[in-house]
Amino acid sequence: MKVLVVGSGGREHALCWKIAKSKMVDEVLCAPGNAGTATVARNVAVQATDVDRLLAVVRRENIGLVVIGPEDALDAGLAEVLREAKVPVFGPGKKGARLESSKVYSKDLMERHRIPTAASRTFDRSGAAKGYLENCDTWPQVVKADGLAAGKGVYVCADLEEGRAAVDAIMEEKRHGDSGMRILVEEFMEGEEASVFAIIDGRTILILETVQDHKQVGEGNKGPNTGGMGVLSPVREISTRLHRQIEQRVLIPTVHAMRQEGIDFHGVLFVGLMMTEGGPRVVEYNVRFGDPETQALVRRWKSDIVPVLLACAKGELETVSPPEWDPRPCVGVVACAGGYPDTYRKGDVIEGLRQADEVDDVVVFHAGTAEKDGAVVTAGGRVLCVTAMGQDVEGARENAYEAYDKIRWEDKFARRDIGLVIREEKPAVTQADDN
Ligand code: AMP
Ligand code: GLY
Repeated sequence: MKVLVVGSGGREHALCWKIAKSKMVDEVLCAPGNAGTATVARNVAVQATDVDRLLAVVRRENIGLVVIGPEDALDAGLAEVLREAKVPVFGPGKKGARLESSKVYSKDLMERHRIPTAASRTFDRSGAAKGYLENCDTWPQVVKADGLAAGKGVYVCADLEEGRAAVDAIMEEKRHGDSGMRILVEEFMEGEEASVFAIIDGRTILILETVQDHKQVGEGNKGPNTGGMGVLSPVREISTRLHRQIEQRVLIPTVHAMRQEGIDFHGVLFVGLMMTEGGPRVVEYNVRFGDPETQALVRRWKSDIVPVLLACAKGELETVSPPEWDPRPCVGVVACAGGYPDTYRKGDVIEGLRQADEVDDVVVFHAGTAEKDGAVVTAGGRVLCVTAMGQDVEGARENAYEAYDKIRWEDKFARRDIGLVIREEKPAVTQADDN
């Protein structure tokens, strides 16, 4: 069977790497891919949102399974177009993708189905939103742009002044374009953040191993948010008991809600949660694998991933055995270009990749890389994710940083505290430019 992975980041390199190991798979293709995916798959120069050309590739190549990485491809309706053409697809259609691409839609759905989340109000005019904030007597309040904003559309506002500034940024300055046509003003939830990944085929729920990214750019969780500076799996704080609670209170009600709303969901639901005193409450839904979470998950996923992805695509998840997991921890350190998450340079030659890959238990996944004149060059803010296994977290950290230190380009940087247990601080107002 041929498998097509759609996307071009570290998540897609990790998926290609894992899928290529499957006995069921003859060839992996990646559209458009990067310099890393080219080492395990055949890159096809078609953008992830170019639905018509992707359909043509799938037909021409007789693809047996399509795995869609990024949310914008899902939001463009790629999954349903392929499904109509009778191709098994891992990834929800446009309606399911709205759970991530519209915070107003997902909030309405949660309220209709009594899924625990922060109370909120929706506004389509800035004056009305500011009027509401003026009457708020509890702070902080959280102001969110409705649409996709590459992680930048959420403002945790300490007081009225910050609240007004957030409304202006989204609705008047249109900092997030059309994504800010509507906003939510949301109650601030106190607690520890956690996330859960569940593969869902419309009925059956398969919860994956625990994994956590490190969102802020600076050590000790300081500074603006990014797409993710590193990853650790498993997360000891998230126990089986907690997973059961999340399944009962959030995942099962969400699957019921999807069915009642006519969302035929075949893919991964990645739920951001706040573990409050009253139990888990949803911060947000994502409808795709996380990046860099996927890089750690595929390193620990010992059994073949393809039967699970294919069964999910076909609505037969209950028939497959759950994944076998490597009990050893995995740490992933993201190597970034200087300046990220603000502006950064592209096109620097990356050296030492082979030496890094030779370190024990290390796999280097590419995120923002490209090939130029036979060399691998930087092509994004998050350039690589250096993953390592170890007997314990400290061992995995040592391997990961030993490999990271062998990689060279000007202005490279990473957090040195990935995998250390850090009490989460409340993030500052967000910033992120994925890759
Ligand atoms: P989101 O993009 O919706 O995941 O929000 C980004 C970050 O903002 C989350 O990871 C939380 O740290 C924070 N956040 C969002 N909504 C809330 C809320 N209602 N209460 C507290 N923190 C929030
Ligand atoms: N690492 C967070 C995300 O993929 O959204």
